[in-house]
Amino acid sequence: MLDEAAARLAIAGIDTPRVDAELLLSHVIGVRRSRLLMIDTVHPSAVVALDRLLKRRVAREPLQHLVGRAPFRHIQVAVGPGVFVPRPETELLVDAVLPRLRAVAEPVAVDLCSGSGALALAVADEVPTARVIAVELDTDAANWLTRNARGTRVEVVVGDVTDPGVVRDLTGRVDAVVCNPPYVPDATEVSPEVRFDPKRAVFAGPDGLALMPDVIARAAELLRPGGVLALEHDDTHATVVADLLDTDDRWQDVLDRRDLTDRPRYVTAVRR
Ligand SMILES: C[S@@+](CC[C@H](N)C(=O)[O-])C[C@H]1O[C@@H](n2cnc3c(N)ncnc32)[C@H](O)[C@@H]1O
Repeated sequence: MLDEAAARLAIAGIDTPRVDAELLLSHVIGVRRSRLLMIDTVHPSAVVALDRLLKRRVAREPLQHLVGRAPFRHIQVAVGPGVFVPRPETELLVDAVLPRLRAVAEPVAVDLCSGSGALALAVADEVPTARVIAVELDTDAANWLTRNARGTRVEVVVGDVTDPGVVRDLTGRVDAVVCNPPYVPDATEVSPEVRFDPKRAVFAGPDGLALMPDVIARAAELLRPGGVLALEHDDTHATVVADLLDTDDRWQDVLDRRDLTDRPRYVTAVRR
């Protein structure tokens, strides 16, 4: 079954056909992927269910939509139509702010453009002492965020990060701001899976920088001196976002950092 499933996915152009086939089968039969080798028969109903999911994956529906969740660091978030699927490269933003959050007694962290809440929830998971606030504008995404945040310490704020009034009560009181904003230039050809992400989550004007000045301004207002910003950007932006921070005297220690595939991907900076 797995060989056949992987072959169908490979023909459809999926990069990781065997992994996807295993994850779909493990989802269908409710067995961890690492235990699939120990299964020698599956119920005919599972064959039918797998076939249905394979057809959707062949149509390039994201794997995470099909299984209803996405892994992110040590947690999982529920995802589906209407919310951006968190990507592995974004996990690095959490590493960038952990030292600062762990060095403070009652740290406060803000996740701007929170989507499913992946960043906010991971920070809350890894820094149990932190107060974490997640800001998201889009109603559908905010519904997923609210669902994911239920039962956690993450506080959800439905608001526009370009609005100077949003989370104004936290001005100068925040130790870390993480932000993975929409940043893809409008005319970019994206993979079929990305078309299942909401447009507002992905694209940001002709150069992909539409939200950057507002995010940087909001972060500068929120952070206390010494507070850290970790801001993701498109690999085509090279040093553009770092330059925005470098030429702004509210910031110091501006560093442009690379992702796991060695592409320029996010900037960190310290509030002066
Ligand atoms: C690239 S997604 C990132 C989601 C999540 N942080 C992650 O890394 O998986 C960008 C998110 O920003 C939200 N967004 C776009 N414009 C916004 C704005 N002006 N204010 C608040 N959120 C916004 C989108 O709805 C989307 O959920």
